[in-house]
Amino acid sequence: MRRVTVLLFLGLLLGLVTTLPNKDDWDIYSFHINSTVTSRYATTVISSRVANRIDQSKEIEFHVRIPKNAFITKFRMFMDGEVYDGVVKEKEQAERQYTAAVSQGQSAGIVSSVGRTLEEFKTSVNVAAHKKVTFELTYEELLKRRLGKYELQIYARPLQPVKDFKVDVHINEEAGLKLIEIKGGLNTKELANAITQDVSDKQASISLYPTVDQQKACDSCSDAGLNGDLVIFYDVKRELPFGDLQTGDGYFVHHFAPSNLPRIPKNVVFVIDQSGSMHGRKMQQTRIALIHILSDLEEDDFFGLITFDSEIFHWKRELVQATSKNIEEAKTFAENIQDRGSTDINKAVLEGTRMLNVYTREDSASILILLTDGDPTSGETNPERIRANIKQAIAGQFPLYCLGFGFDVNFQILEKMSLDNNGAARRIYEDSDANLQLQGFYEEVATPLLKDVTMVYIGGSNLTQTNFSQYYNGSELVVAGVITNNDIESFTPEVVALSRNTKVTFSNRNATTELTEAPVDRIQRVWAYLTVKQLMEKELQLSGPEKEKAKKEAMDLSLKYSFVTPLTSMVVTKPPGEDSAVLHKPKEGQKTQPLRTRIHSRLGVSGASGSIHRLKALPEPGLSGNRPVSGFFPAPASPAGHPGFYGRGGRGGPPGLPGHFSLPSAVIYADDITDYGDNLMEGDDMMMIAATMIPDTTPTTTKAPSTQRFLMTATNTSLPLCFDLSASGRLKLLRIPSRELTVNGALSPEINGGFTHIVIRVQSYLRLEADTESFSVMNDQTGEITRYTSPAQFTADSVAVIIRDKEVDISVGDIHFVILGHEISGRKFLWPVLKQMPADDTAEGVLVYNNAHYEGGVTMGSTSTVKVKGKNIIVSRSRAEDYRVATPTAEDCWLLSAEDAFQKPAPEFFN
Ligand SMILES: *[C@@H]1O[C@H](CO)[C@@H](O)[C@H](O)[C@H]1NC(C)=O
Ligand SMILES: *[C@@H]1O[C@H](CO)[C@@H](O)[C@H](O)[C@H]1NC(C)=O
Ligand SMILES: *[C@@H]1O[C@H](CO)[C@@H](O)[C@H](O)[C@H]1NC(C)=O
Ligand SMILES: *[C@@H]1O[C@H](CO)[C@@H](O)[C@H](O)[C@H]1NC(C)=O
Ligand SMILES: *[C@@H]1O[C@H](CO)[C@@H](O)[C@H](O)[C@H]1NC(C)=O
Ligand SMILES: *[C@@H]1O[C@H](CO)[C@@H](O)[C@H](O)[C@H]1NC(C)=O
Repeated sequence: MRRVTVLLFLGLLLGLVTTLPNKDDWDIYSFHINSTVTSRYATTVISSRVANRIDQSKEIEFHVRIPKNAFITKFRMFMDGEVYDGVVKEKEQAERQYTAAVSQGQSAGIVSSVGRTLEEFKTSVNVAAHKKVTFELTYEELLKRRLGKYELQIYARPLQPVKDFKVDVHINEEAGLKLIEIKGGLNTKELANAITQDVSDKQASISLYPTVDQQKACDSCSDAGLNGDLVIFYDVKRELPFGDLQTGDGYFVHHFAPSNLPRIPKNVVFVIDQSGSMHGRKMQQTRIALIHILSDLEEDDFFGLITFDSEIFHWKRELVQATSKNIEEAKTFAENIQDRGSTDINKAVLEGTRMLNVYTREDSASILILLTDGDPTSGETNPERIRANIKQAIAGQFPLYCLGFGFDVNFQILEKMSLDNNGAARRIYEDSDANLQLQGFYEEVATPLLKDVTMVYIGGSNLTQTNFSQYYNGSELVVAGVITNNDIESFTPEVVALSRNTKVTFSNRNATTELTEAPVDRIQRVWAYLTVKQLMEKELQLSGPEKEKAKKEAMDLSLKYSFVTPLTSMVVTKPPGEDSAVLHKPKEGQKTQPLRTRIHSRLGVSGASGSIHRLKALPEPGLSGNRPVSGFFPAPASPAGHPGFYGRGGRGGPPGLPGHFSLPSAVIYADDITDYGDNLMEGDDMMMIAATMIPDTTPTTTKAPSTQRFLMTATNTSLPLCFDLSASGRLKLLRIPSRELTVNGALSPEINGGFTHIVIRVQSYLRLEADTESFSVMNDQTGEITRYTSPAQFTADSVAVIIRDKEVDISVGDIHFVILGHEISGRKFLWPVLKQMPADDTAEGVLVYNNAHYEGGVTMGSTSTVKVKGKNIIVSRSRAEDYRVATPTAEDCWLLSAEDAFQKPAPEFFN
């Protein structure tokens, strides 16, 4: 049988055009999740047997969620007596093959990062009439100890009730189990009698075998069956402070988590971003969290609190003791933190460092905590220089923890900054529990027990990280390595650290527990898992040849151990004539390669028609609106009726740009655009926004702030709705936390003047900026800036961009939008049109309907009533210009306030 190689790249989120398979056409015979945890290393297998029950061949989907921290190590399909096995390959190599597959007309499958802790794996295969397929996915994960517990999360959502549904968890801990808690959305009373647990000294078995009825009845479950997670928390016994050392096959892993030690008083400085982007709920939650955290300080702790925007505000210039009086005063300060201004991270962190540095106290542990939600926008803004400054100032003396609030933040810079300084970065998700996330993070570092921890393994090599700046109660230090020549006799592990001011040594020389012989290869895999994770951190942190070296080592190990990491992809052979699937593992804060190949296949590999200009330095973009709107696109002399959106050597263009650009691409792509567009228009998630240039009231001469009118197509109203927003400030156009995407726009100061800038931030480090002259791509990771001034197309990670004449087409995974360039009465401006977005209620912004339902009401002359989210609102008839199309036309609309349209206060539309 001929086989076609089809690739699964983990990480792709696509499916713009692919129609969703109809889930009624197949039957899930069985859905099993089997997770085995041995010494905190979890191997989970999800297998699902599915039958096509219709009389023709059918595309059957396998769609699961796995923990972000896990690596997929195996994926197989069993069909018609054949086994189709996944092979992990170098990502770039797999991608090349995939491109070839795509040009044969195949489309892609999906994995994307979703939510806080899970990412999604999705693929499909064509199954002949009345045949069956079995999918089997395996992933591995080293469980991390946090606040005194390990956590195993299992997510089940088969998308239909399943007769044979089983979740089995087996935990084996030689050291002995200490606590077992079953939590998660599936641990509800409806499922209570479907859950069994059998816990003994060293083992626990937990199973969930719900009946079909139970699968429909539980909270968060529906006719589509179970939907939720089962979370198992546990801890192990630790008789010896030295911890638990296991060996096997020439490798060892050492879990070190002593708790029976005195705490070290700490000196902690909180550096809190109060820039304008923290406005609203974020600032509110930060205040709540801070107040809570302050109350948790111990009396012998010392602390400092500074807030910053472009300036620094001290509560006190020096650290003070956490006496109840000081804490009360600091709380009052925290309660009054107001958002304003821009973000000078450099200055703020340096000041925090100064405060800790002048305050040296024997016998204490210093910690610097930065909370920010945005990029450095004032003072020093170059990320590499900020890193260098901070690293030099801290000089390894204490850890820096960076908390990135939301998705506007350049998370990679925060990660690098904290890795540079022995700390860690943490994402705080914008949600109702953000304050709890902040508090939770603080609790993790609240109790330092040891400082300057050095783990020494004489007779060991190829060690994972062995030096740790601080060790906190409730956490765990894990080191793995190779036992040289497998000579256990001369292998001597030891931990040396400072406990308060005393040097302490932990060793297992007097240990009564024998080194455990673990099953073959598990310890080796733990070593490989940890090594790959740490090499990827190094890769992020380093530059030049060292970076390449770390990358290569990480990749070689990923290939050897068959880990699907951000550097590798999985290739699966499928029967001939199949749609291919492109699946990459996304990095934290990153999604990969979604549309690249598709665009190539649909539009032909182009780029040749556009000229790309690489500029060394571009003025800091910023959205302050004070960039001159001169020049705009080219004036009169555009050739052959194709005035270029981005001009023929625009007058106001930056120096160095060539004087003319090549052909307009609209002609080339016309068919494709229509095709693309039509497919998209069918989606339910479509939103349309247009603007008007026609003021509905008689112009007044008062100097009120100018406004911009937006038009939204509403369902079930006789006319579209329209509303006005003040043209001051940075408008939140779109924010989809689950896709790590934010789009902001700056409005022209003129009434209904459209946008002068639109900035798109994707993942933590990609920034795309459109102005009326050009389209720029800034990669904060590499510092590279590319500016386009004529038709071109390119992809960068999950982003695919096609720059056309008067239009830029941007796809970010399953999100698609267009920035139109309009020119009216010689004035040029931008207008964003959202073409497709995921059905995702976390999306917000002016471009989003927020799932509001507009019900048509009674019309009486020039007024009418519409219903928004159940609320009746009186609207009046007005006019707006439809900018969704290349040639705007005036339309009637029902005018209401923005507050009414979105049922939110207007300030929430601004950053
Ligand atoms: C789960 O996996 C373990 C380890 O591979 C195996 O021993 C066990 O039989 C499996 N359990 C079920 C119910 O499949
Ligand atoms: C560390 O944690 C353990 C277990 O939660 C607790 O019993 C102990 O008191 C803690 N130590 C300190 C110094 O807080
Ligand atoms: C250990 O490190 C050495 C030197 O870097 C390398 O040659 C060797 O392959 C490594 N061993 C393993 C098991 O990776
Ligand atoms: C770890 O710390 C020890 C002692 O503080 C030092 O000698 C050693 O060089 C450090 N190792 C690494 C890899 O930083
Ligand atoms: C460990 O053993 C040595 C001798 O074998 C003994 O001197 C020492 O006191 C023991 N340490 C502990 C903590 O038991
Ligand atoms: C549309 O509006 C009419 C009244 O104008 C109402 O009867 C109908 O139920 C509405 N449809 C929906 C889907 O809300």
